[in-house]
Amino acid sequence: MKTLAILGGTGKEGAGLAMRWALKGYQVVIGSREASKAETRAAEMNAELAGDYLTGMANAAAAAAADMVILSVPYSAQQATLASVRENCRGKILIDLTVPLRPPEIMAVNLPAGGAAALEAQEILGPDVTVVAAFQNVSAVKLRQLDRDVDCDVLVCADSEAARAAVSDLVTAAGMRAIDAGPLKNAVAAESLTPILLHINRAYKVKGAGIRITGLDA
Ligand SMILES: NC(=O)c1ccc[n+]([C@@H]2O[C@H](COP(=O)([O-])OP(=O)(O)OC[C@H]3O[C@@H](n4cnc5c(N)ncnc54)[C@H](OP(=O)(O)O)[C@@H]3O)[C@@H](O)[C@H]2O)c1
Repeated sequence: MKTLAILGGTGKEGAGLAMRWALKGYQVVIGSREASKAETRAAEMNAELAGDYLTGMANAAAAAAADMVILSVPYSAQQATLASVRENCRGKILIDLTVPLRPPEIMAVNLPAGGAAALEAQEILGPDVTVVAAFQNVSAVKLRQLDRDVDCDVLVCADSEAARAAVSDLVTAAGMRAIDAGPLKNAVAAESLTPILLHINRAYKVKGAGIRITGLDA
């Protein structure tokens, strides 16, 4: 089974994905700016799962140990986090689920200077890393409900079909349906849906609104 490193896996979104993948047999490493924080969070997740599933390391060591890397930090931390792990991601797929929100206006679309957060990630990491954009529209609240699938689809934007296939397998393993959403530059649309979902959460007084693509069951 592949080893997955979740940079910022100490936080809300990464933790749910980490535990879901761990329960499916992946080796999951929680990454953090502080190794001790990652170790503590991994131990907490192991206690919740009643098993010895996850380990914790500093982000760079986690990326080095992994076959695939998942970036799960706020947009404001994206650039610095990627710069700190760039060398350890060479030759690997990096899944970017960053949403370029601009607090406090988190219910309004914010288009980053580089066109999309995922394109900015690719620019920072360079051609030796294959960036795939996915999971930006998946609620952390729903991910933490480990006993059920998440009622949403996941748009997978990639310039490599092999990388899209590998990431789609992870989407399925985490209990969701993967949708081929075209090239990496289409991530601007996926990233822009999240502030709309946050608005919908407030407007309809719900937690964890998500997206579904219809018309695929021909
Ligand atoms: N929460 C959701 O429902 C949701 C849904 C879809 C997409 N997303 C996206 O997923 C990403 C992670 O979201 P989240 O809710 O998990 O975020 P979070 O809990 O606020 O932060 C995740 C981790 O990022 C690291 N971090 C936070 N601030 C940082 C900083 N200034 N510099 C470096 N690292 C920092 C922290 O890890 P360490 O302190 O351990 O280093 C933290 O545990 C975001 O881009 C978000 O837009 C979130």
